[in-house]
Amino acid sequence: MKITSSEYLASAVKPEQYPELVVPEVALVGRSNVGKSSFINTMINRKNLARTGGKPGKTQTLNFYLVNNSMIFTDVPGYGFAKVAKSHRQTWRKMIEEYLLKRANLKGVVQLIDIRHLPTNEDKEMFFWLLEKQIPVMVVLTKADKISKGKVQKHVSDICKQLNIPLSYPLVFSSETGLGREEAWEAILELIQQ
Ligand code: GTP
Ligand code: MG
Repeated sequence: MKITSSEYLASAVKPEQYPELVVPEVALVGRSNVGKSSFINTMINRKNLARTGGKPGKTQTLNFYLVNNSMIFTDVPGYGFAKVAKSHRQTWRKMIEEYLLKRANLKGVVQLIDIRHLPTNEDKEMFFWLLEKQIPVMVVLTKADKISKGKVQKHVSDICKQLNIPLSYPLVFSSETGLGREEAWEAILELIQQ
């Protein structure tokens, strides 16, 4: 995929703040610190357009990025971050659900899961909720550079069992090395053409 332009558009915590631009949109969801912002940067060949960080809870608002003037990646705050106060967590949850359910431009979701670990309860809850709401969802297993190649298939198969999906469903990815980038673009282009 050739990237000709990428720019930050807006941040939002409520629908009135979403960009008015009508282009296909793909949202990133996943645990805090799993690499959602890094995924966006890798896809668009930018180092830090979407701000990343070593500490979980870096992204706190819905952040919209326009790519090639033709599609938007929405960076979504991560879930499962214990240090966020309970009341705050409820607000985030509402904000995320509202966005995922009401955003007309949304074509689908990329759910990131750390390839090193089994999906958490929250990962499963999110995945099955998206299925239930009939929101198209791609599963991307990221941080693949952190395990040896020989272990990849076993991790993929353990994660697939937990999510009840075929082995061919998830994409193996690394923001560090760019592994899986082209395949991810192919899948995303297919998603937004529907
Ligand atoms: P929140 O905004 O807190 O929800 O986190 P996030 O999901 O956006 O994670 P972010 O992209 O900020 O990455 C968190 C940390 O993981 C950063 O230190 C990244 O450099 C690192 N990271 C992300 N993806 C990868 C990857 O594929 N491989 C490796 N080795 N590190 C990664
Ligand atoms: Mg982030």
